[in-house]
Amino acid sequence: MTLAIDFMGLKLNNPIIVAAGPWSRNGDMIRKAILAGAGAVVTETIVNEVNIDVRPRVAYRNNGVQNIRLYSDILLEEWEREIDSAKSNGGIVIASICAQTSSEISFIAGKMEKIGADAIELGLASPMGEGLEVMAASAERIYEMTRKVVSSVDIPVMVKLSQNVTNMSKVACAVERAGGSAISAIDTVRCILGVDIKSRKPCLPTYGGYSGNPIRPLGLASVATIAQSTKLPVCGIGGIETYEHVLEYMMLGASAIQIGTALMLNGFGHIQGIKNDLERWMEANDIQNLSELRGAALSGIKSFDEIQVEPKISHLKDACSSGDCHKCISACIYGALTKNAGEVFLSPELCRGCGLCSDICPEQNLELIWP
Ligand SMILES: Cc1cc2nc3c(=O)[nH]c(=O)nc-3n(C[C@H](O)[C@H](O)[C@H](O)COP(=O)(O)O)c2cc1C
Repeated sequence: MTLAIDFMGLKLNNPIIVAAGPWSRNGDMIRKAILAGAGAVVTETIVNEVNIDVRPRVAYRNNGVQNIRLYSDILLEEWEREIDSAKSNGGIVIASICAQTSSEISFIAGKMEKIGADAIELGLASPMGEGLEVMAASAERIYEMTRKVVSSVDIPVMVKLSQNVTNMSKVACAVERAGGSAISAIDTVRCILGVDIKSRKPCLPTYGGYSGNPIRPLGLASVATIAQSTKLPVCGIGGIETYEHVLEYMMLGASAIQIGTALMLNGFGHIQGIKNDLERWMEANDIQNLSELRGAALSGIKSFDEIQVEPKISHLKDACSSGDCHKCISACIYGALTKNAGEVFLSPELCRGCGLCSDICPEQNLELIWP
């Protein structure tokens, strides 16, 4: 049994890649991530002109994070020293790079190859810069940038996509046509995390990128779409916190995954925990290699027309024992669930089989069955 994978020609000892962000902002942090067991590390996005960090720039609410940090604050020419230091104990380093034009980005890519990066990730999908947002949604611009970088380096080029696009499949196909080696998805999602109603001000003073647990369903949908539209290896990103999340991404077509926010919140030690859990799960389920699972759930995604209408209705498995809980009753918009003298009753003739009660019951005491 092995966690090792081949990802766009790179031999990773496990599929957990550290995503681009301030946790991979310099050689020292990248080295620590490698020592903590990451299969590879993506640098914070390297640009020609560094931005000064605003303060504050990260906000946290309801398990989600908004950030307004714009890329690496280390100069391009200083990254040689950082990559050297990052790789002093070995490991695989992917240079995330960004620029506004294809000639500028291919120049940075060439430089990164020369100073020892093992691969490139084009980080063109940040929701902060207005110009970049337009670029991430334009299949033509993504094609042009990817093509130029691919033709100027010999190392693999992965392209990171945004979920803020109307046609993910079109953008993904543009990467494939341009000769990209892989697609990673998703970057953070354009957001305003919330408003402080006392001060009447937003949490942070500009639109930012949303990350962490709440964006996982968006990442999963994007990965499935990319896997269904191209033959390229996919690196799943967004809201990954546990080994189950890794498996979900893989079953929807990811070959590898990246983690950002969960490492920012829990530290690099979190990587080993996920690896241990993955190994335990593989052993218990007799899986020798994670590639056996890749795309296993894709056949379960149907077009609306293909879904057969089955006359299933809800069913109470046992007498409900959860005292004051009214969750299923409040959530049943068809009035099929009622409570009398502490006991839950289900009227099969009113149930329309929507499925919400079975998901909402804390005791998992409801299920959909054939009548
Ligand atoms: C504080 C912060 C800074 C980030 N900086 C970058 C960056 O420099 N380049 C990039 O491509 N993505 C950046 N990201 C996005 C992450 O790499 C990742 O795509 C996103 O956070 C979703 O994954 P997660 O939910 O595991 O964090 C950043 C995210 C956060 C939270």
